[in-house]
Amino acid sequence: MFKSKIIGMGYSVPENIITNHDLSKIMDTSDDWIQSRSGIKERRWATDNVTTSDLAYNACKQTIENSKINPIDIDMIIVGTLSSDYFFPGVSAQLQEKLNLKNVGAFDIKAACSAFIYSISIADQFIRTGAAKTILVVGAETQTKLIEKSTEGRDVAVLFGDGAGAAILTRSDSKSEILSTHLHSDGKHLKDLWMEAPGTNKDSWIDDPINLSKFTPKMNGREVFRNAVTRFPEVINEALFANDLDIDDVKYIVPHQANYRISEAIAKKLNVKMDKVVSNIHKYGNTTAASIPIALAEAVEMKKISTGDIIILAAFGAGFTWASAAIRW
Ligand code: ACO
Repeated sequence: MFKSKIIGMGYSVPENIITNHDLSKIMDTSDDWIQSRSGIKERRWATDNVTTSDLAYNACKQTIENSKINPIDIDMIIVGTLSSDYFFPGVSAQLQEKLNLKNVGAFDIKAACSAFIYSISIADQFIRTGAAKTILVVGAETQTKLIEKSTEGRDVAVLFGDGAGAAILTRSDSKSEILSTHLHSDGKHLKDLWMEAPGTNKDSWIDDPINLSKFTPKMNGREVFRNAVTRFPEVINEALFANDLDIDDVKYIVPHQANYRISEAIAKKLNVKMDKVVSNIHKYGNTTAASIPIALAEAVEMKKISTGDIIILAAFGAGFTWASAAIRW
């Protein structure tokens, strides 16, 4: 068995900044309501001419540059997204073409906010078995193109932003490695965080093609909150236990940026200070599958992470799905 490690990261966010004050002009909300419930001050919304694959491409270019690899060495592309440019095929094949990575395997993973960790886990398995040596893993979203930007959709609309982040995983011959990944789901919560259409279930769309409200994400906020504050600490503890680590051994927890209050609840349950929990939600909002790679790439860019540091990534999202990855940097 081989081991895998992350050798470079990158990210890209749209230029278009939407502040809480901007939102209060198009829906009945306020800066105070949004900040007190979520910690978000502003987010980026992709304009009509910016697609998920565009953001993913920019993040990947930066990632390849930072990794100092020859792109020809990339064996596979895995993209976590629920807002692909088209219903099918996924963003991964578009990226293959844009990056000119000749005929490599490429596929999308639709595991919502957990999709980046799911993708890291898959890449790690391919590299461990020797089936692949170098994999480009991406989280990319323009989910705000789907949200209802009015008072009716305000509970969801104020939370989300757009962006992309990426990592190169390659075979490790040092102590740096992906130590473990743990993936979970509980499908009974399907309708607590979902977008019904377009889908092939005839109830979802085909019998009622003009019900546009089915084409926007819906959230049972209280149920999401209740489950998130349980599952995040649970899956982080699972990672610690699997690697015989104590929370004091961990330099940073990089959670999916769901909501600052959820991150605070994680810190409280794990009995750690918030300076151990990476957060950038105030400036980007919740960018779904892109939030973890953007947060991690920023921490790397700010030189907060050094070789040998233990980092735990953790996610919770639609499905419900939840996951963690323990990394020795
Ligand atoms: N601006 C102003 N008012 C709003 C907004 C808004 N954007 N959205 C909802 N409201 C109103 C509601 O209509 C409701 O009004 P009502 O009382 O007249 O019916 C009221 O605010 C509800 O406010 P609270 O009493 O604070 O509600 P609650 O305590 O249930 O909190 C919240 C709601 C903030 C959504 C909470 O459940 C929560 O934080 N959930 C987690 C949701 C989340 O963070 N999801 C992340 C995305 S999913 C993911 O990444 C996993």
